[in-house]
Amino acid sequence: MRFPPGFRFGMATSAYQIEGAFDVGGKAPSIWDTFTALPGTVRHGEDGRVGIDHYHRYAEDVEHIAAAGVRDYRFSISWTRALADPGFYDRLVDALLAAGVRPVPTLYHWDLPQDLEDQGGWLNRDTAYRLADYAGVVVRRLGDRVRDWITMNEMNVQTLYGYALTDHAPARGLGLEALPVAHHQLLAHGLAVQALRAGDAGAVGIANQHFPVYPASDDPADAFAAELFRGLTNWTFSDPILLGDYPDEMIRAGVGTSGAQLDRDLELIAAPLDFYGVNFYEPTAIEAPRAGKDYSGVLEVDIPEGLPFSPVPVKSDERTDFGWAIVPGALTEILVALRDRYPGLPPVIVTENGASFHDAAPDPSGRVRDPRRIAYLDAHLRAVEAAIDSGVRVDGFYVWSAFDNFEWAAGYDERFGLVHVDRETLARTRKDSWYWYRDLIAAHHNSGG
Ligand code: FCB
Repeated sequence: MRFPPGFRFGMATSAYQIEGAFDVGGKAPSIWDTFTALPGTVRHGEDGRVGIDHYHRYAEDVEHIAAAGVRDYRFSISWTRALADPGFYDRLVDALLAAGVRPVPTLYHWDLPQDLEDQGGWLNRDTAYRLADYAGVVVRRLGDRVRDWITMNEMNVQTLYGYALTDHAPARGLGLEALPVAHHQLLAHGLAVQALRAGDAGAVGIANQHFPVYPASDDPADAFAAELFRGLTNWTFSDPILLGDYPDEMIRAGVGTSGAQLDRDLELIAAPLDFYGVNFYEPTAIEAPRAGKDYSGVLEVDIPEGLPFSPVPVKSDERTDFGWAIVPGALTEILVALRDRYPGLPPVIVTENGASFHDAAPDPSGRVRDPRRIAYLDAHLRAVEAAIDSGVRVDGFYVWSAFDNFEWAAGYDERFGLVHVDRETLARTRKDSWYWYRDLIAAHHNSGG
């Protein structure tokens, strides 16, 4: 594999998934603290109260990150922690810089303060302004050392899983009535860009999840359903940023803001970015709901009845242990599709890609063999290389994740880490994939990259 000089290899995590210390330093609860405390929300009833105790073990964790030779570390800032106990992020940022790693914080990775949820959460336009206030506080605190910023993570997943369905916090189950959540998060992004620029940020981007959506058959009804789903889960979250409008009239009407205010919002949302983050895991297949067919249990997520599309499993020979289809070519495909759709697409960074395999505990010699993760990452990096060869400008790739961590509603069974974390002792062990990634980065540098 060959990547352009200066290519930014990195690793990614998020606050709620690793930090723990859920109430240390006066940190107020987020919607994930509330959601995980409810019965039946998370597999095995697990939660992020302790996480992998990154809050207390950050110094060791920075060593695992830096020793791999990565240039960038993407983490997220917990909104409620940053307001109560910002010193933690000072320490983390200082440790990263001292180790030669560039900090790339995400302002918002799904952990909305619970008190804002109590006031309507992302259904309330005011939440966008509260996020901008918080962005201002954080950039004033860290902006002398942090140059690169990501505003929001996967607004589509929070809208869909958290507000349209009930799989994630805050579990509202509103179906298509969740569309205003998309608009308010996009507005929050636009306002945060403004606040970061006012704070003299170096580079500002976003991390959006994207994936190809395939119709399940040649039936025109399936093509129509897939087009609708593609618009709602992909373009709704990128067109406003990169084209200044929603993908179609139905969505425009559904976001609940209209007229001159919508025009002003869209202008703000479309402010230029320095990079565009793409999180990629797997493609989706969609069919038009077949009368009389029972879709319950078809996927791990239950889609309410009455929606005009039904996700069905993607045909694929290989799956991760999380059940996600392994289709590396779909990463090339979506990167090329983004380039073709958006003439002004900023340089892309793949801000998340990786796989959960249920790795065995370290063997007596301390080794964790994870050949399937290596194969997965190798294939996806080659897919990025293919996109670059097709003329897409991709400036970096961040592995999800640096460490095994709390995988939201799936709890701790799912292991995405390059570093293994023992659930009992919380001991960290570098997996074979960590060494593979280190060697790949070193080879890149040795060949002049
Ligand atoms: C993404 C999330 C990230 C992680 C991976 C596996 O959707 O952004 O936090 O859970 O999936």
